[in-house]
Amino acid sequence: MNRQNKICLLFSVWALATTTAFAQQSADDAAKKVAVNAGCLTCHSIKHVESKDGVLPVGPAWQDVANQYRGKPGAADFLTRIVLEGSNPYASHWKNKAAGIAMPPNVVAISESETRQVVYWILSLK
Ligand code: HEC
Repeated sequence: MNRQNKICLLFSVWALATTTAFAQQSADDAAKKVAVNAGCLTCHSIKHVESKDGVLPVGPAWQDVANQYRGKPGAADFLTRIVLEGSNPYASHWKNKAAGIAMPPNVVAISESETRQVVYWILSLK
């Protein structure tokens, strides 16, 4: 391979890498905007927050959700359903991490495909 070809190849690799990173960034921004518009962030924070004086957040932080469900098969489908239909008021799996109330159904505020988009983004949070 001559020098010019090498430079050309390097440039292509760089261009592809930055385009992919950029596409991912705008997908994340789009999902976040959907969540803001649907009112999710009135009860949830994106980043984990330490509780102050024992006061817990209304809904679990989405970083905590990602940690809880990362790698679990079917998590995206399960969470999409919960978000649309609301959570079981007797579930206690967020005990000591959230206030302990059930999530109301969000189906009036968000479509199924948008919910899926937000849930995929939540599960990708690190
Ligand atoms: C009125 C407050 C409120 C709003 C608005 C709200 N949530 Fe929740 N959310 C909660 C609570 C409370 C929980 C914990 C429920 C539980 O313990 O079962 C929760 C749990 C979750 C979970 C984890 C479910 C589980 O079973 O582990 C996800 C994911 C989630 N919410 C996403 C969303 C999204 C996306 C939206 C916006 C469309 C949203 N929430 C809007 C209060 C809310």
